[in-house]
Formats: sequence, structure tokens, C-alpha cells
Amino acid sequence: MAASLLPASGVDLVYLDPPFGTGRRREGQAGAYADQWKGSGQHVSWLAECCERLWPALRAGGTLWLHLDARSVHHLRLALDRVLVDGTCRNEVVWCYNGGGVPRRDFPRKHDLLLRYVKKGDWTFHAIRRPYKANTQAVGRHSTRAKETAIDLDWGTPQTDWWADIPTVTGWSPERLGYPTQKPQALLSRLIAATSNPNDVVVDLFMGSGTTLLAAASLGRRYLGVDNSKAACDLAARRLAPWQAAAWDWAP
Ligand SMILES: C[S@@+](CC[C@H](N)C(=O)[O-])C[C@H]1O[C@@H](n2cnc3c(N)ncnc32)[C@H](O)[C@@H]1O
Repeated sequence: MAASLLPASGVDLVYLDPPFGTGRRREGQAGAYADQWKGSGQHVSWLAECCERLWPALRAGGTLWLHLDARSVHHLRLALDRVLVDGTCRNEVVWCYNGGGVPRRDFPRKHDLLLRYVKKGDWTFHAIRRPYKANTQAVGRHSTRAKETAIDLDWGTPQTDWWADIPTVTGWSPERLGYPTQKPQALLSRLIAATSNPNDVVVDLFMGSGTTLLAAASLGRRYLGVDNSKAACDLAARRLAPWQAAAWDWAP
């Protein structure tokens, strides 16, 4: 991407959901993209270079999220630890889900991994809380010890790095658009809310159907999306049409 497209003051948050290195062509009713490489080494070095080239555009304290699965995440973790100057991997978030195919001779692979890199500086983090489980609440409300320790059961418990409460976009999800590997808006909303502030600039270089941009717009962030598929760009533009006026108003 041309550096001139990015704000001179720096980008606050980057989210990358690239092709995962499956070796397949991903097809859906609303678009398709190639995920075919000459071996995993080519995929890993391409992606590491994308991150390395984008990294200087991130402001000090800015966050880069890289969404992958178990095929390549460990290779990328090692590569990014080397090339992202002043970067620290602060979390490896595991997104767990159900549905889809089940192999006969392996455990079904039902999680993705999201690396959260932060550039040295005053980074943004807003803790998120989730409700306690029903049995914890039931015990807590009747136990003398819980009353003594003043645990606020209504406030909830901190969301950990293990996210098992956000379903994938399936054939019957109301938000499904038919774009291959479309991510749920709830996933993007959570990570944007936790690691950026209102009016921050959020960038997605592999925007696909535009989920990141929609989540960013809904949370009052500015956004910029890129994709090398015209079908993806058209779809994302249609999805974001209700937000365009606001986006122009916020432009620096
Ligand atoms: C995993 S999908 C993104 C899905 C998206 N997060 C969503 O919720 O719809 C990856 C996207 O990367 C795009 N892509 C692949 N190679 C690219 C490249 N070199 N430059 C820009 N976009 C690319 C594909 O067209 C595809 O839309």
C-alpha cells in the first residue's frame, strides 16, 4: 500500500486476516480468493514482509493484530519477533468455535490464533469483562466467603485470552454475506474496543467483506481498508454505505 494513503500522525490499530496458507482456492457466492503458495515458506515470508513494511506506519504504542491458524502462526511468531522493531507480542488470543468439517483420524481443528503485537510506547488497552458462569453466580450469591471477599458478581470477570463465546459465520448466520472466510462482527468489535480509542484510525489490508471496517465504524473509529479483489471492495463499499457520510466527516 502507498504510504501516502496512511495518516501522517500514524495508524493506531492494524488488523490483518490474510489467506492462511491452506493451499486452496477459497470460494463463496459473493467472491473468491486464491490461497495457493509454493510451499509454506513462501506464505510465511510474504506475510512477514507485509507486516514489516506496514509496521513503521503504526504509531508508538499502536497495535497490530495478525489472525492466523495453527498452520502458520508459530512460524510467523518467530519471524515477527525478529522483524518488528520495538514490537512485543503481548497476547496470543485463541478463538474457539464449532461447526464445519470433522476429520476421521484427527481431533477436529476448531480454533484460530490471533497475535497481538504492540509497538513500544503508551499502548491502549481497555479490559473487557464477561459474566460469571451460572454455577459460579449461584454458588457465589449464597456463600459467606464470597460475601466476605466482596466479589462483585454483577460486574463479571475479566475476559481472558481464550475466546469461546463468539460463533463463526455459518450458512444460517444473519450477518452472512457469502464471502469466503467472513469473520463475525462480534470478534472484530471485541478486539477493536479493547485495543483502540474512539476516533482512532483502524487499518485492514485484507478487508474481504469489510467486517473490520464495519466494526470500526460502529464503534466510532476511523478506518481504511484494502483488498486486491474487486468483488471484496464492492461488497465492503455496499456494506459501509450507511457510514460513508460519517467517515468523510471524520477524515483528518
Ligand atoms: C481471509 S480473507 C478476509 C476476510 C475478512 N476478514 C472478512 O471478514 O470478510 C483474506 C482477503 O485477503 C485478500 N487478499 C489476498 N491477497 C491479497 C493481497 N496481496 N493484497 C490485498 N488483499 C489480498 C483476499 O481477496 C481476501 O478478501
